[in-house]
Amino acid sequence: MSVEIKQLGSFYHLRNASVSYIMRRLENDMFEHVYFGRRLSVETIEDLEYLCPAPSKPSGAVKYTKNGTLALSDKALEYPVFGTGDFKTGAMRLERNGVPVYPDLQFETVTEAQGTCPMAHFPCVRDEEGAKTFLFSWVDPIGQYRVEHAYTLFEHDPVITRKVRIENLAADDLTVSSLMSSALALPDGNWELVYLSGNWAREFDVKTMKVDHADIVIDSKYGSSSHKHNPFTAFVSGNEVYTTNLIYSGNFMNRAQGDEFGNLRLLCGLNPETFAWVLKAGESFETPQAYHAYSSAGLQEAARVNQRFVQDHIVSPIWRNRSRPVVLNSWEAMYFDLNEKNLLRLAEEARAIGVDCFVVDDGWFGHRDNDRSSLGDWHADRKKFPDGLGAFARKIHDAGMQFGLWFEPEMVNEDAAFYSAHPAFVVRPPQGRYSYGRGQLVLDFANPACVEAVYAQMKAIIEQTKLDYIKWDMNRDVTEAYSPYLASQGRSQKEFYHRYIQGVYALHEKIANDFPHVLVEGCASGGGRFDAGILYYAPQIWTSDNTDAFARLDIQAGCALAYPMACMSNHISAVPNHQTFRKTGLTMREHVAVFGILGLELDLCQCAPKEKEQLKTAIAKYEAMQPLILNGTLYVHPKHEGWRAWTAIARNETTYLTGFYSTVADLRVSRNERVRVPDVDANAKYTIEGCSIDGAVLKAGGLRVPLRFNGANGEMAVLKGDFCSALTWMEKGEDGR
Ligand code: DGJ
Repeated sequence: MSVEIKQLGSFYHLRNASVSYIMRRLENDMFEHVYFGRRLSVETIEDLEYLCPAPSKPSGAVKYTKNGTLALSDKALEYPVFGTGDFKTGAMRLERNGVPVYPDLQFETVTEAQGTCPMAHFPCVRDEEGAKTFLFSWVDPIGQYRVEHAYTLFEHDPVITRKVRIENLAADDLTVSSLMSSALALPDGNWELVYLSGNWAREFDVKTMKVDHADIVIDSKYGSSSHKHNPFTAFVSGNEVYTTNLIYSGNFMNRAQGDEFGNLRLLCGLNPETFAWVLKAGESFETPQAYHAYSSAGLQEAARVNQRFVQDHIVSPIWRNRSRPVVLNSWEAMYFDLNEKNLLRLAEEARAIGVDCFVVDDGWFGHRDNDRSSLGDWHADRKKFPDGLGAFARKIHDAGMQFGLWFEPEMVNEDAAFYSAHPAFVVRPPQGRYSYGRGQLVLDFANPACVEAVYAQMKAIIEQTKLDYIKWDMNRDVTEAYSPYLASQGRSQKEFYHRYIQGVYALHEKIANDFPHVLVEGCASGGGRFDAGILYYAPQIWTSDNTDAFARLDIQAGCALAYPMACMSNHISAVPNHQTFRKTGLTMREHVAVFGILGLELDLCQCAPKEKEQLKTAIAKYEAMQPLILNGTLYVHPKHEGWRAWTAIARNETTYLTGFYSTVADLRVSRNERVRVPDVDANAKYTIEGCSIDGAVLKAGGLRVPLRFNGANGEMAVLKGDFCSALTWMEKGEDGR
C-alpha cells in the first residue's frame, strides 16, 4: 500500500500501510488535528466528522472574529500560535520591527513530492523509495510571510515526520523567535510521559510522570542535546503510545501541555529560550525535522518502531548493515600515559586476540599529558611518537588492524598554537568573565572559517595515517554564548546556538564527503550527544563513560527505547570498574557489551592468559553474532527482583538471543521464572539450547530463565553469585513444523 493523501471536503487524510494522519481545515484556514493512529480506510465525510470532537458551544469567551463563533482555546490545533485566542505556549512566535506579528493565515495549497524532501546540509530522514512528502503552505498577506509544513510518510513505518519552513516576503526584517518543528495533539487518554534523563555516566535513566492539567518541559540549554534530557519522549496510555524525537543535536525543547478542556498538546523543536533568527527580505528558515511514532501495542513495540526507523531512515546506507570493527580503545588502558612503545605492546596483544581496529584515544597530540592542554593542535606529540603518526599508523596497518584516533574538534586550550593563531575563533563575550569546562574553551563553529581551519588539520592527519575510524568527542557545555563571527557579520547572537550545530554538521559533512570509508563514532563525555542528528553522520555513539556492566543494563535498556543496538558502542573494561569500582565477572561484561557494537577498553598486557583466551573467543563469537545486532531490535523484559533480561530479535524473527543477568544473589527464587519473548509463532518449532520446542508452548509458557541458585542446587545453577549472566539462543525451524 503506497503513501497517499485523500482530501474529502475540509479533511486531509494522509496514510501509509500502517497509520493515518487526519487534519481538518477550519473556517479561519488554521488546521485542526483530528487523528493520528492505526490506518483507517474511511471514505466518507460523515465518518471523518465522527472522529472530530463532539460539537459544543465554543468554550472560552474569546472568539476569533467579531461576530463569529469560532474559539481557538479548546481546539486541538495542528500548529497553534499564542496570542490568537490559544492560551497555551504556541509553536510559532514572530516579530517585525519590535512589534509582535499575530498571524492571519490564508491556506494556499497542498502539494505532493516523491521522497523525503531533504534539507541542505542538515541531517534529516534519508530519501527512500516509496516515501512521500506533503507540503501544506499558507501565506499571511498582512504579516507578509509564507509558512510551509512538510509531512513525510514511508510506506510501512507507523511514523510521520514534520518540519516547518518560513519565508519573509517583505523588505523589512522578520524575527522568528520560536518555530517548533512539530505540534501534536494527543487523543483523549490517561497519559503518562516517559522520558530519558540523566547525567554524566548515568545516561538514559527512564523516568515516568503523569501528565494532567500542567505544562511540562523536557529540554536542553547545554549547547548539545545533553546527558540531562534526551530529545526522545513517549506518551503512554494503556497500550497506546505516541513518541517524539528530533533529528537534531543542539538545544531542544519538548513541551507537554495539558489544558482545562482535557486536551494534551506536545511541542517539539528548537529551544525557543536560546533561539531567534532574523530573516532579511526574501530569506527563509527551515526547522530541524521531528518524527512521531505510533504504537497500539505498548512501549516496547514503540521502542522497536523507533529503533528500526533510526536504522532504516537515519543511519547512512553506507553503514546500515555493514559489519563494524571490534576496537581496542586505549583510554581506560592508559589514559594520558601513552607512547609509541607501550601502544605497540598493547596493539600486539590486541591483534593476537582478534581485535579489528586499534584506537588511540585522548593524549596523542600537541603536548597533551593531562586534560588541560593542547586541544586545537591536531598533530602528533613527537615525544610520544618519535617517527610521527604516519609511521605509527603504518605499523598498526601492517599488523593487519585498522587504525583509529580520538579528536575533540570543537574545543581549544589556551596553551595551543591554534588558540594563539586564532583568538577570534573562541566563543566568549567581547568583555568580562567567561567560564571554563575541563580547562577548555569552545570554538566558534558558527564561523565557517573556524570549521575550515579545524578540518584542514583533521584532513592532514586522516591522509597521513590512512585513518579508518574517528572518535569525535565533545566534553564541555556551551556558556556565555557569543560569536565574534556573528558580530562581525551584523547577525543576531540569538542565532548562535543553532549556527554552532550547523557548523558541527558542516564538519561532519566534509569528512563524510571526502572520506566516506572513515567510520565516525560520536561521543560527548559518553552519551551527552546521543541523538538522531549525530547518528545521521556517525552510525555509532559511545553510549556512556560508565563501563560497569551492571550500570550498563539500565543505560542500554533506556537507550533502546529510542535507538537501535547497532548505534550503541559498548566496551568490555577492567575490574574493579573505573567508574563504580564494582567487580563483575568477565562473562557478564561480555554478555552486556555484545548487545551493541562490541569493543574493548582495558590493558590487555595486565590480563591473565585465561582472560585473553576468553576475550579472543568472545570476539570470534561476536563476529558471527553481529548481523543480528545490526539488523535486529532489542526488546527489554520487565525488571525482576534479582535479575534482568533482554532479547535481541532478528528482523526476520527467526533468531532470538536473550541475555539474562542476575544482579545480587538472593535465595528467594522460583524454579519457574520465565520471560515472554514477543513474536513467537505458535505454528513453528524453535531450537533452544539443543531442544526443539513448540512455538505454542513457548507462547503459553514463556522462555525459561536459566537455573538460578536457590540454596539447594549449587552444582546445577547457571546464575550463581552476584552479577552473573547467561545467553540463550532461540532459532526458528526452517519450515515450521
Ligand atoms: C570523554 C570520553 O567519553 C572518554 O571515552 C574519553 O574519550 C575521554 N573523554 C578522553 O578525554
